[in-house]
Amino acid sequence: MSAGCTQLVWGGRLHWGASHLLSCLLALCALWVLAAAEPTEGGSANVQGVGEAALYQGRGQHRVPSEDNVAVLSDQWEPSSFQPSSAFSGTDLGTMVADSYRGPGNSDRRSNKELPILLWWSENLFPHFPGDAERIDCPLSSCMVTKNKSVKLHKRTKSIIFYGTDFRAYEAPLPRLPHQTWALFHEESPMNNYVLSHLPGIRLFNYTATFSRESDYPLTLQWLPTIGYLHNPALSMAEKNRWRKNGYAPVLYMQSHCDVPSDRDRYVKELMKHLEIDSYGQCMKNREHPNKRLEDTSTATTEDPEFMAFTARYKFHLAMENAICADYMTEKLWRPMHLGAIPIYRGSPSVRDWMPNNHSIIMIDDFASPKELAEFIMTLDSDDEQYLKYLEYKKPGGTTNTFLLSSMEKREWGVNDMTAPNYLNGFECFVCDKENSRIKAEKTYKKSQQGGAAPEPHIADFNHMGCPMPTPGFGSAQEIPESDSWKQMWLQDYWQSFDQGEALTAMIQRNETNQDRFWDYMHETYIKRSMNH
Ligand SMILES: *[C@@H]1O[C@H](CO)[C@@H](O)[C@H](O)[C@H]1NC(C)=O
Ligand SMILES: *[C@@H]1O[C@H](CO)[C@@H](O)[C@H](O)[C@H]1NC(C)=O
Ligand SMILES: *[C@@H]1O[C@H](CO)[C@@H](O)[C@H](O)[C@H]1NC(C)=O
Ligand SMILES: *[C@@H]1O[C@H](CO)[C@@H](O)[C@H](O)[C@H]1NC(C)=O
Repeated sequence: MSAGCTQLVWGGRLHWGASHLLSCLLALCALWVLAAAEPTEGGSANVQGVGEAALYQGRGQHRVPSEDNVAVLSDQWEPSSFQPSSAFSGTDLGTMVADSYRGPGNSDRRSNKELPILLWWSENLFPHFPGDAERIDCPLSSCMVTKNKSVKLHKRTKSIIFYGTDFRAYEAPLPRLPHQTWALFHEESPMNNYVLSHLPGIRLFNYTATFSRESDYPLTLQWLPTIGYLHNPALSMAEKNRWRKNGYAPVLYMQSHCDVPSDRDRYVKELMKHLEIDSYGQCMKNREHPNKRLEDTSTATTEDPEFMAFTARYKFHLAMENAICADYMTEKLWRPMHLGAIPIYRGSPSVRDWMPNNHSIIMIDDFASPKELAEFIMTLDSDDEQYLKYLEYKKPGGTTNTFLLSSMEKREWGVNDMTAPNYLNGFECFVCDKENSRIKAEKTYKKSQQGGAAPEPHIADFNHMGCPMPTPGFGSAQEIPESDSWKQMWLQDYWQSFDQGEALTAMIQRNETNQDRFWDYMHETYIKRSMNH
């Protein structure tokens, strides 16, 4: 690879002419095909034959990172538009091109058959194409990566990478080998797998990439492509007021995923008693979408221009995440800010840490009741000057949060940015470098005849996810009847997940090799828990 291309891929901040970019892309693709064709030996997987179709089909299941966005405006696809799911899209050049991460610190000259192997347990996510094995050159060192599970017991297989949403305690690879670490990639909602929100579940992993800033490789700002995204101009006040006069409510709600742990509809239902809200999605729907084409895609993630123009007319957007957890923030928050609507937000309790300034969103939980919130919104609706104070972050110099600014500056991956690697390849390299330095440390320790200090284990902590038990969107759990579907579904799911983490931990501790015994362990865990109560 030419130095110029390496810089392009790694540096990401340089400005290059389009033709240079293109030739680098072509060169990289060619190199990549060569690398894939190079034979690998010694037990590492070198398996072709998984068809392109299968690869894309698999990835297709992961196309929609924010589970609420059920519909996709595929016919209006705009390649330039922001899709944080770029990591999953095999057709995205960004994924293909920027998957080499070799940094100036990497002087690794080992051949493929000497390199440690990282196994992607969730093969749908394997961020390489074509083939199912690949050499990766990372900032500090190199590894082989594969999705072929036949290497799972190999002594060179040093780490297994799991996708949180697909991780099933009853399908985990057993026995767990002492020389292997487990790595977790989970950028999606905590509701997709509550096992990871409990200590016994998260501690199964050594390295994590989650939405939490506390994880080893944080993906917290995955839905914010750039700071400039926030500075997109809002519709004028006059125009917004005109839409109000034309019969638009001050507040927009657009959600089609209704039975979620945050139980948001229970709150919205109360709020609607005191405040005009236009609801177009399947949840609490009270209006027909004026545009037939957008009707069944009203919760789309894409930045379809018509969809965006329509939603920008509203002064306020109800921005409620499907689950409540520190640092879990999605497009529900960032998109209204991009459009210049004020988010009325409930989701990450620590959301303020990431806001462009101290006066840019309205937090639902700052208000004692839906009625008080409604009164506040109505005041702002009739006071343009007070309203506009919430958009000052869009003015030059208006984005003052240095934590936000520096976090964006420091992040090494890009969102739909062809010049920066995506976070799947980034995390893979993070694990590769960690494993190589662990191998080195273990060798040094052995040579020292146990003289020095043994390398410390690295184990994920509760706060790498740590999402709290779901609570009702409005009122208290005691007031809600046992027959309520939210109560039946999410409280059970949450606590059953705790038991799953404990059961798997017990299986690992006892060197269990038979996955089928998982439910016996679950039963045992359940009995133990009932006895302790
Ligand atoms: C995985 O690799 C082994 C050995 O290299 C090979 O025999 C097998 O067919 C591969 N499996 C898949 C699913 O490609
Ligand atoms: C927000 O206000 C607090 C104190 O009121 C201050 O410490 C903090 O720096 C402010 N943050 C921003 C982004 O202005
Ligand atoms: C990985 O985590 C497990 C606990 O799940 C721990 O027993 C092991 O020592 C850790 N391995 C390393 C290399 O840190
Ligand atoms: C599990 O295996 C490890 C080493 O392979 C051994 O040290 C440990 O005692 C075993 N544990 C049980 C409960 O058999």
